[in-house]
Amino acid sequence: MKVLCLLGCWLALVAVAQAGNAVNIMPGVAPIFFPGQPIPDPGQPIPDPGLELPEDLNSLDMVSLSRLNSIRNISEFAKLFKLDLPSDGPSNRTTITLRVGDLAGSTSKKATMANCVPEMTTVSLNLPTESNVMYYPTCVRLEQCGGCCFGPHLTCRPKTTEVVKFKVLRTVMTNSVRRRSNRRRRQNEASYHEVEVIKHTDCECGCKIQEQDCIASIQTYNEAECSCVCKNRDEKAKCEKQNSTKYWDNDSCSCYCRKTQPCGSGEIFSQVSCKCEQLASRSGFGFPENNEEGSTA
Ligand SMILES: *[C@@H]1O[C@H](CO)[C@@H](O)[C@H](O)[C@H]1NC(C)=O
Ligand SMILES: *[C@@H]1O[C@H](CO)[C@@H](O)[C@H](O)[C@H]1NC(C)=O
Ligand SMILES: *[C@@H]1O[C@H](CO)[C@@H](O)[C@H](O)[C@H]1NC(C)=O
Ligand SMILES: *[C@@H]1O[C@H](CO)[C@@H](O)[C@H](O)[C@H]1NC(C)=O
Repeated sequence: MKVLCLLGCWLALVAVAQAGNAVNIMPGVAPIFFPGQPIPDPGQPIPDPGLELPEDLNSLDMVSLSRLNSIRNISEFAKLFKLDLPSDGPSNRTTITLRVGDLAGSTSKKATMANCVPEMTTVSLNLPTESNVMYYPTCVRLEQCGGCCFGPHLTCRPKTTEVVKFKVLRTVMTNSVRRRSNRRRRQNEASYHEVEVIKHTDCECGCKIQEQDCIASIQTYNEAECSCVCKNRDEKAKCEKQNSTKYWDNDSCSCYCRKTQPCGSGEIFSQVSCKCEQLASRSGFGFPENNEEGSTA
């Protein structure tokens, strides 16, 4: 019996050991490391803590989004957010019950993310339009950024590009009247024409709104939020205090009246008071025809 237990207990120990890197056999006793298993070095970077599952996509910061956009499959997603994956059971059962006609779509496989990468895409060639001239070919396949990105403000865009030159055949079509009188084909009817196409060599999940989309005179760019921010914050705050009658327009960085109204002659609509005002009470010369569309912009 004793021998049996020795062997049995040892086997049990080994089995437990193989389930994890280290086993704490007894509380208070240092964990045992088995040969072949890496011993954690306290000087090493701490293991990746993963990400918290966000309450909504908007609350993920750029760093988290870029990690989310660098993974490809469900297992990596689960690892990143420390999720337990549901068992693979159902998809195995389907292979057996397929013939019987089980659940619809039972041959499904786990989807992999179509990450943002250069991929073969059909691109129309930018060819001149001339009457009686035919070009061939009219489109090519070459790498363009494709795929999708997580994050409402992100889009798959090229990071690096290169210009690729293609030769296409340019053929002058001779009209039928002329062809009848001149049956022999002329050699110089066809020639090569060079077209340039931009090939995307690297892609990234970048902001939909870029710095150059901001109006530099009135806005600054906030890269972390992929947005253009109005410089005149004070005016914005002032406008928002009057939000029953006014609203702030982020695009023009201006405050507008919620309701405009047509004004009588001799009156002008004021974007300050949101009312029609006597022209006389203002500094004078106005153009009554344009009253209704007055703005402070
Ligand atoms: C998920 O992706 C990682 C890295 O690209 C790869 O090592 C792993 O085998 C993939 N897993 C599945 C189930 O496709
Ligand atoms: C499911 O099928 C895979 C191979 O298709 C197999 O490796 C795995 O052991 C199966 N799982 C179950 C629970 O039968
Ligand atoms: C206006 O811009 C601010 C700051 O950039 C943003 O928080 C807000 O959601 C924007 N409002 C609209 C209506 O786009
Ligand atoms: C004005 O702002 C307050 C508080 O910021 C908000 O509760 C209210 O709905 C706003 N009114 C309008 C008309 O937007």
